[in-house]
Amino acid sequence: MTKPSFYITTPIYYPSDNLHIGHAYCTTIADSIARYRRAAGYEVFFLTGSDEHGQKIQRKAEEKGVTPLQYVDAIVANFRLLWEKLGISNDDFVRTSEERHEKVVQAIMQKIYDQGDIYKKNYEGLYCVPCESYWLERQLTQGNCPDCGRPVEKMQEESYFFKLSKYQDSLLRHIEENPDFIQPASRRNEMINFIKQGLEDLCITRTTFDWGIKVPFDDKHVVYVWFDALLNYFTGIGYGADEEKFKKFWPASLHLVGKEIVRFHTVIWPIMLMAMGVELPKQVYGHGWLVVEGDKMSKSKGNVIDPLSLIDEFGADAIRYFLLREINMGSDGNFSRDALIIRTNADLANDLGNLLHRTVSMIEKYHGGVVHKKAAAEEIDAGLAALTEQTVRDYREAMDRLEINAAIKAVWALISRTNKYIDETGPWLLAKDAAKAERLEAVMYNLAEVLRIVSILIQPFVPRTSPKIFAQLGLAANGAFLLQDAVWGGLADGTRVAKGEPIYPRIEINEEGLTVNAPTKKTAEGAGAREASKEEAPCAEMPEIIIEDFAKIDLRVATILTAARVPKTDKLMKLTVKIGEEERTIVSGIAQHYTEEELAGRNVIVIANLKAAKLRGIESRGMLLAASDGEGRLVLADAPGIASGSKVK
Ligand code: MSP
Repeated sequence: MTKPSFYITTPIYYPSDNLHIGHAYCTTIADSIARYRRAAGYEVFFLTGSDEHGQKIQRKAEEKGVTPLQYVDAIVANFRLLWEKLGISNDDFVRTSEERHEKVVQAIMQKIYDQGDIYKKNYEGLYCVPCESYWLERQLTQGNCPDCGRPVEKMQEESYFFKLSKYQDSLLRHIEENPDFIQPASRRNEMINFIKQGLEDLCITRTTFDWGIKVPFDDKHVVYVWFDALLNYFTGIGYGADEEKFKKFWPASLHLVGKEIVRFHTVIWPIMLMAMGVELPKQVYGHGWLVVEGDKMSKSKGNVIDPLSLIDEFGADAIRYFLLREINMGSDGNFSRDALIIRTNADLANDLGNLLHRTVSMIEKYHGGVVHKKAAAEEIDAGLAALTEQTVRDYREAMDRLEINAAIKAVWALISRTNKYIDETGPWLLAKDAAKAERLEAVMYNLAEVLRIVSILIQPFVPRTSPKIFAQLGLAANGAFLLQDAVWGGLADGTRVAKGEPIYPRIEINEEGLTVNAPTKKTAEGAGAREASKEEAPCAEMPEIIIEDFAKIDLRVATILTAARVPKTDKLMKLTVKIGEEERTIVSGIAQHYTEEELAGRNVIVIANLKAAKLRGIESRGMLLAASDGEGRLVLADAPGIASGSKVK
């Protein structure tokens, strides 16, 4: 059976500068949709590229004393590096400076000229160099370019014009008859209003610079950047070179673009296609912008966020997850480091990471690492299986509607439910009762099965995480996470799990405001930083948690047996504590606040299930609770007279 095809594109980016996190946002959305469609059984073609021509690039290259091609070569190499690091799965990358693209542009220009839709006239107008656009006096905003706000220049040139006006009515009809053509609806309405005001013919050639594709019928002219750039969508799928491929993928299923370039994609591009007699793309979706602390990113404001260094710090999947989960595609969304850290810790390290860690640890502990397939026996199991299947359906519906964050929320609701399922079924109690051996096997199977299906569902968002989960579950990924396999019961009897590193270590901020313990920065001082955090967020600003989150923290009364300063540090104290019958070592940052004598014999409250961390080479298992008295002194939370090991609730 032939697969249905799905052709998705990103805009091609200007290599006038390196890309920022806003560009990465757009490409990440497209990548997750491409990956989802592949998982859903489509033959996908996913295209991105670089829009290299124009006066702005030519000027920048001149300033640097290099040729335009030399200038863009260096920047385009960075684009490719970024996409590689971010896990972008594009099938091709079109550079508009490539010969294959030049051929397409010239052939189409000639065709439209021959049929009389391009004509020459003398033109004088107000020109914005960075936007490479002519404007009418009445379109300016306080005398400046309405798109970028920069000054315009008076220019006069003999130019070729494309008859947009001729196609105005057909375009309007198409938009009105095809409600899905422009999405979301707000952008569609904007465009209808824009077109109704009347379209002017478009100047599509320039003579004031030469870094561009030559007009085939008049080589004094180069082709206007947008006419050139939009045709990349043809070049990528082999227009004029590979008819079979072109036929398979055209019309495009989705052009994903930022809101400010919807106009070019829903007026100029469809009219070019109408003039060529080619079908229009099925959908143009205009997503919102990523802003930083509410502000548009710009070099002059100094708030441009470099995605490459962010990836180095947090790992690509955490950034992808944040962008896709946090931002509603149709509207603008805010990027903030704090929100990224909170999101990564809550959803990836805690919810997902814990579910995996607990599941694999228990299967190893109780069943020597082997999963035993058991039919869902109790109502709670049937409920979990039903929720999983419902989640797959909700996820697919949301993804088909391009509601990526709704799809993610559905999966995380399942993850939370499954963490709760562990607490409700109490495997540690089942393990104590020989009569419950089969029940324990069923519970373990259900947990591993949810994780298997979750990995398939989240692969479009966090493509490097799913194989890691599969590896811990003992499953071979073979590169394919197909939705047809996201069916309850698919996990084979006898599967052997293998515990690995935490997929997302919790990110902590140390005293200098730097992240530690992030996936790509392994430092042993994580827990030390935890205890030393100085600035406390006001209570109202802390993220809300639910009671189940609190239930994950095992607070216990502990008796300090011995205390000794850690040599060569002034903050750390090595404590031996007794929690019930168990003795363990905790390294705590309280050496400036208590003497050894003051500590020994004290009953304190500790977080007993905190992941172990090495501090100055000493393994610390747990953390003491303390509060600052407002003058910089830490005061331990005491529990005098309460038996060691008692649970604090
Ligand atoms: N070269 C043209 C596109 C031609 S497509 C045939 C162009 N390039 S661009 O580099 O300026 O922008 C490319 C895309 O990046 C646009 O869709 C734009 O909306 C997007 N973004 C630029 N800054 C952005 C944010 N801050 N947030 C989200 N998207 C952003 O336009």
